[in-house]
Amino acid sequence: MSCVVFRSVVLVILLWCPVVAFAADTVCVECHSGQPGALGEPVAAWRSSVHAAKGISCHDCHGGDPTNFALAMSPERGFIGAPEYDAVPAFCGRCHVGVLDAYLPGMHGQALDAGGAQCVICHGSHSVQKAGLELINENDCSRCHDYDRALEIKESLTGVDTRIKAMDHDLERLHRLGFATDSLASGLFNLRNQFHRIFHGVDVERVRQESGGVQTELDQLASAVEVIDDTLAQRKLWGSIVIALFVLAGVVLVLVRKTYEEEEQG
Ligand code: HEC
Ligand code: HEC
Ligand code: HEC
Ligand code: HEC
Ligand code: HEC
Repeated sequence: MSCVVFRSVVLVILLWCPVVAFAADTVCVECHSGQPGALGEPVAAWRSSVHAAKGISCHDCHGGDPTNFALAMSPERGFIGAPEYDAVPAFCGRCHVGVLDAYLPGMHGQALDAGGAQCVICHGSHSVQKAGLELINENDCSRCHDYDRALEIKESLTGVDTRIKAMDHDLERLHRLGFATDSLASGLFNLRNQFHRIFHGVDVERVRQESGGVQTELDQLASAVEVIDDTLAQRKLWGSIVIALFVLAGVVLVLVRKTYEEEEQG
């Protein structure tokens, strides 16, 4: 009996799942997933992206009305279409303001009309993934110029990147031990954001200088962590001393008792 109930519950869940998944789709996704070629491809690419994971959908980038099949792409409903090559930075920069600010004055931003790399050249438009320094590689960066300067930039960023990741682990460890790390963590969060924009200026000297600034602030966080670790070490030391004293007291007690008993018997 219960097996039948169990099976029908499973069946109901199985029948429900696709319904729930489709219910969350916008009209943009529904219509475009049925379109051929370049009109349909964005859907699958987008589904695997960091944007989809964070709830940023077609209309958040392209505008339009995601609830109305007939008027979805009407300019009156805010549809802005697909941007031209040199309009992409402003298009993405509506949300990534800090990155845009670092990008525009740099060589890529300044050479936008002359084939300077823009956002989708490096990140893609629909399959955007979490970004890291592995995006700087000879294969991708030597398509338009040589790799030397790119490599210099990568090298000065790598050390800081490693330190930020290590600091992240340290704060997690202290948090697990019950220390209040909130203000340190928010300091690191801001520093991290500030740091990951620097690359976009693609200027070797500035990257060195600004990474240096980030290093200095990391030093300050590191000494705050050191203070906590010292406290921790001291607590451990005192803990061991107290335990040792208890053990000693126990031994003395046993000895005293033994002597007392021996005296009684003797
Ligand atoms: C009923 C089907 C349908 C719906 C709904 C729909 N689209 Fe489209 N879309 C199309 C077709 C067909 C084209 C190609 C012809 C055209 O541009 O009108 C297109 C073109 C596009 C383009 C390319 C335009 C260009 O400038 O090259 C974008 C971007 C786009 N749609 C985004 C969206 C977004 C965002 C939504 C939801 C707000 C949406 N679409 C809703 C069918 C649809
Ligand atoms: C993160 C922003 C972003 C999101 C989200 C996004 N797009 Fe796009 N889309 C772009 C950019 C930028 C371009 C133009 C550059 C390019 O073609 O690669 C573009 C181009 C297009 C085009 C034109 C393609 C062509 O080759 O002419 C279509 C159609 C389109 N998008 C549909 C969609 C649909 C449908 C969704 C949701 C499933 C979507 N986009 C989600 C940024 C986005
Ligand atoms: C409507 C706002 C919006 C637009 C427009 C937009 N993004 Fe995003 N993007 C987000 C959000 C939200 C996240 C997830 C939170 C985060 O990690 O910053 C994100 C994440 C990212 C990430 C991963 C960040 C990381 O932590 O590694 C990259 C790369 C990215 N976007 C690039 C782009 C590019 C390229 C475009 C233009 C084609 C674009 N975005 C347009 C909102 C937007
Ligand atoms: C679509 C072409 C294109 C791609 C791909 C590209 N760049 Fe560039 N880059 C340019 C242009 C154009 C300039 C400005 C003129 C020049 O120096 O050639 C430039 C300039 C630079 C400069 C400044 C050069 C200097 O002399 O100081 C650096 C650094 C740089 N790019 C790094 C990179 C990195 C790193 C990548 C890969 C992640 C990359 N570029 C990918 C087009 C591109
Ligand atoms: C030449 C290649 C290139 C171009 C052009 C480029 N990016 Fe990036 N982007 C990168 C690299 C490399 C990283 C990783 C940097 C790091 O880890 O410090 C990155 C990181 C990011 C991140 C993650 C930042 C974070 O906090 O972790 C976002 C968001 C982003 N880019 C958006 C953009 C936008 C928007 C544009 C256009 C205005 C753009 N990128 C142009 C290569 C590029």
